Amino acid sequence: MSGRRVWQASRNPELFCSGLGSNIVDLPQELNEFYGSMINMDDPKHFRLRSIVSKGFTPRHVTDLEDSVRAKAAEILDRMLARNPSGTADFVHEFAGPLPLEIICSMMGIPPEDYERIFDWTNTILGASDPEFGGTYERLMEVSLEIFAYAQALGEDRRAHPTDDITSALMAAEVDGDQLTPQEFGSFFILLVVAGNETTRNAISHGLRALTDHPDQRDLWFGDFDTHTRTAVDEIVRWATPVIHFRRTVTADTELGGQALTAGDKVVLFYASANRDPAAFEHADRFDIARPLQPAQVGFGAGGPHFCLGANLARREIAIAFDEIRQRLPSLRAVGEPDYLKSNFINGIKRIPCTWD
Ligand code: HEM
Repeated sequence: MSGRRVWQASRNPELFCSGLGSNIVDLPQELNEFYGSMINMDDPKHFRLRSIVSKGFTPRHVTDLEDSVRAKAAEILDRMLARNPSGTADFVHEFAGPLPLEIICSMMGIPPEDYERIFDWTNTILGASDPEFGGTYERLMEVSLEIFAYAQALGEDRRAHPTDDITSALMAAEVDGDQLTPQEFGSFFILLVVAGNETTRNAISHGLRALTDHPDQRDLWFGDFDTHTRTAVDEIVRWATPVIHFRRTVTADTELGGQALTAGDKVVLFYASANRDPAAFEHADRFDIARPLQPAQVGFGAGGPHFCLGANLARREIAIAFDEIRQRLPSLRAVGEPDYLKSNFINGIKRIPCTWD
């Protein structure tokens, strides 16, 4: 789909709604309820739910997190070095996975001893189409119930002992004068941990691969890091497009880019395609960390009410990840072919070998 059409549909939610599902395939009703958080809702309810957590993701709040993200990135790199004295490792397992996982878990108030469980659960939820992560409807349902029960228990604990984490904010929030129902809270919790963890990981993994394959771009960025960071991070997100698509449903007969559409038609926003649109990007197939910033870069969505809530956080995480690599382990590079996730939704890398001198 051309970038222009992705924009038009994203910014016209009355005609292209989210409330009837946001993936190509309709989920069975039970799973729709589990995953029916704000991403599958339309305003005004979507807006009210989003407002509960949006202040945790503003540029200002993300700037406040800078030091802890940096400390976490350094700690994870040190751990990788200590655990792999041979100088080779799986980059996803050792670095790209743990960084966003540990950041979103700590924002949610999840204790460190549970991070691994959360990692496995979210892998199964977004990797359901990959046989390695279960690959069956039964396994997906089982994991959904487990993470849902986990969320409820953590939520009840925070109701009794509130802190400044997002889980406490969700438990205390009122929407239209009512607290979130257990169902609403559980779905919201799942959305945040899944989205916060399964996307940035892939941007960082694809980023290492791209910088390895394009040493001139790596030298350019690492040679003058601050000058290029803003564009380099956006280029990594464009290049990787970790979220391949989201879907909308047409609410009334209309047209999009000359194509007649009937109420009820599904429209799939292929971000991966829009991000390689030659009408929007000069030499779209070139990895260019100095590419000028462009609104046509739709890796985080194309604007509109559902634009990625975590875009500021993800950009910071990616920038800090590569800054720490540049400073502490500049010889780090990918080797061999990545092992890709089997999915039409997430452009995931399950494993990518890396090495350093
Ligand atoms: C490189 C990393 C990331 C990418 C590529 C990405 C991509 C996206 C995309 C494409 C959307 C849908 C936009 C739309 O429909 O208009 C989205 C929504 C969302 N993202 Fe991200 N995301 C990333 C990181 C994060 C992080 C770190 C969080 C933190 C929790 C997050 C939370 C969300 C949420 C909650 C939504 C739903 C927003 C809504 O429905 O209002 N994302 N993201």
